[in-house]
Amino acid sequence: MLPIHFAPLQGYTDFVYRNFHEKIFGGVDYYYTPFIRLEQGELRKKDLKEILPENDLTKNLVPQVIVKDIYELDTLVSVISGMGYGHIDINMGCPFPMQVKKGRGAGLLPKTDLVREICDFINAKTNLDFSIKMRLGSENADECMQLLPVLNSTRQKHIAVHPRIAKQQYKGELNIDQFQAFLDASRNPVVFNGELKSVDDIEKISKAYPSLAGIMIGRGLLMRPSLASEYKNCSLLNDDELLCCIMKLHDGVFAHYAESLQGDSHLLMKMKTFWEYLEEVIGHKRYKLIKKAVNVAKYNAALQL
Ligand SMILES: Cc1cc2nc3c(=O)[nH]c(=O)nc-3n(C[C@H](O)[C@H](O)[C@H](O)COP(=O)(O)O)c2cc1C
Repeated sequence: MLPIHFAPLQGYTDFVYRNFHEKIFGGVDYYYTPFIRLEQGELRKKDLKEILPENDLTKNLVPQVIVKDIYELDTLVSVISGMGYGHIDINMGCPFPMQVKKGRGAGLLPKTDLVREICDFINAKTNLDFSIKMRLGSENADECMQLLPVLNSTRQKHIAVHPRIAKQQYKGELNIDQFQAFLDASRNPVVFNGELKSVDDIEKISKAYPSLAGIMIGRGLLMRPSLASEYKNCSLLNDDELLCCIMKLHDGVFAHYAESLQGDSHLLMKMKTFWEYLEEVIGHKRYKLIKKAVNVAKYNAALQL
């Protein structure tokens, strides 16, 4: 059975969600923070909350950083390792134009020399583990092959590959042939990431690529938070069981934010996001009412429907 990595999803998989997910569903071997970055040379407050050791109850958290140069990498690695984390993930896949334009995320992929510097940095930090989360390329799917000799020269805990290029964002066909070529030539363990929505999907991918080191799932876990534990336990939840567990997850997240956020509108915004990938589970009618709720009373009424 392959290890399951819960892909970071900015805006969704914050520490509150991750903690309750682990408690209620489990089945995940590695959780990741959404990318952490420097803003005017400093860690953002919201990012700091994600990595404070006392905020992490999963105990298998990997902080992820997004950087444009060695200075940013060194600064973030010092802060994060200083908090006791021994494994840090480097984002080389984010397609958000703001980040790519600044040379972060997928913007690193065409920059072989900079990636070489990053790998030298990794090689020098012998007391820390690093992993990379990447796409096949920024503009072209063969950028990953040009990077391979550099990536092969360093030791990575794993490289998670989303087989798309940045231009595709999160849609369009996965380039499976290019993924296969990368997997075959990589000296580092490779984790597959992309469009896995069911236990069947996970099993098909593990059979198709027997040399895989793991499976990373993002939106599939938001849609079906039980997916990792169902795969691990070889047993599916029925619709009632799934809904019951999702309500427990919801109640935990809601209670946390009802206490920590100021005012209904922030709470509503956060909770509407919670349901964004769950329309199928709660049904179209309830989903629409949740989306339309203008206050917490209406929101709760929609949930009770
Ligand atoms: C809303 C959203 C936010 C994301 N945030 C991050 C992020 O912070 N770091 C990252 O490496 N990838 C991020 N991703 C990419 C996912 O981790 C994942 O690679 C992508 O969704 C493909 O996997 P999936 O098909 O299983 O969802 C994000 C994706 C989405 C849709």
